Amino acid sequence: MNIKILSRNSQLYSTKRLVEAAMKRKHTVEVVDPLKCDIVIERRNPNIYFKGKYIKDVDAIIPRIGSSVTFYGTAVVRQFEMMGAFTTTDSEALVRSRDKLRSLQVLSRAKIGLPKTVFTNYSRDVSGVISQVGGPPLVIKLLEGTQGVGVVLAETKNAAESVIEAFNGLQARVIVQEFIKEAKGADIRAFVVDGHVVGAMKRQGKDGEFRSNLHRGGSAESIELSDEEEIAAVKATKAMGLGVAGVDMLQSSRGPLILEVNSSPGLEGIEKATGKDIAKTIIRYIEKHA
Ligand SMILES: Nc1ncnc2c1ncn2[C@@H]1O[C@H](COP(=O)(O)OP(=O)(O)OP(=O)(O)O)[C@@H](O)[C@H]1O
Ligand SMILES: [Mg+2]
Repeated sequence: MNIKILSRNSQLYSTKRLVEAAMKRKHTVEVVDPLKCDIVIERRNPNIYFKGKYIKDVDAIIPRIGSSVTFYGTAVVRQFEMMGAFTTTDSEALVRSRDKLRSLQVLSRAKIGLPKTVFTNYSRDVSGVISQVGGPPLVIKLLEGTQGVGVVLAETKNAAESVIEAFNGLQARVIVQEFIKEAKGADIRAFVVDGHVVGAMKRQGKDGEFRSNLHRGGSAESIELSDEEEIAAVKATKAMGLGVAGVDMLQSSRGPLILEVNSSPGLEGIEKATGKDIAKTIIRYIEKHA
């Protein structure tokens, strides 16, 4: 098969592993930077122009679209779809997953466990927002944050108010969420491919840190999910319409609570923690469907 990996950087671990896995299984594979693709639109003849020629006869694409290039990246994915290529990440699902508010709405409609969350449009009734999530301690997150930056634990009402007001003053939109204490500074990442969990790890924040992000010094180990966790991960992925996803959840006293469903989940953490060949699983998923 002719497989294109849409990635800005062929040196990234995930990109390299996917290339390697595709080659091992005798496919033709190329890394295509979506930002260097021109989208050619005319009547019934969708095309993509890349490095001086038209891209032809693509069987499948693996989009690895960073959140900073969602708009153009999605347009390129959509163009490949119009050209008849199979994609491991549907363009509509990609857009949906990048909108945190919309994602939580979709998950809530699918009856998936979530931490109680309030989105607020710079509300001046800060006290009301705080009581909506059951009062302190609570977590305040910048809507635009990633890798734990802009995620704050406010232990008292005073602290919560000052942080929310400060963000409001900077015109930075926030999410206010109940703090799941029982998670004990850990979260779970379940890697889902084609409706099955193919690997899972527990990430633990370093001592005294409630954020488990590996970029913040957290550590990861492979875990076996409970049935309930496995079902939640698969259901969340399905609700988002994703073929490949990284589902982040917290273990709470009322069962798994989904934090986020990631549409371009990295392979490095999960492959290293589990020792599993997730790249190969993704290539096999393509072989089954393309
Ligand atoms: N409501 C919560 N209760 C307890 N711990 C939480 C809660 N929300 C987040 N955390 C912890 O903080 C970490 C970072 O939060 P989150 O994943 O929401 O933000 P992020 O990693 O910055 O954003 P993204 O995952 O979108 O890149 C989580 O992995 C989890 O360990
Ligand atoms: Mg996170």
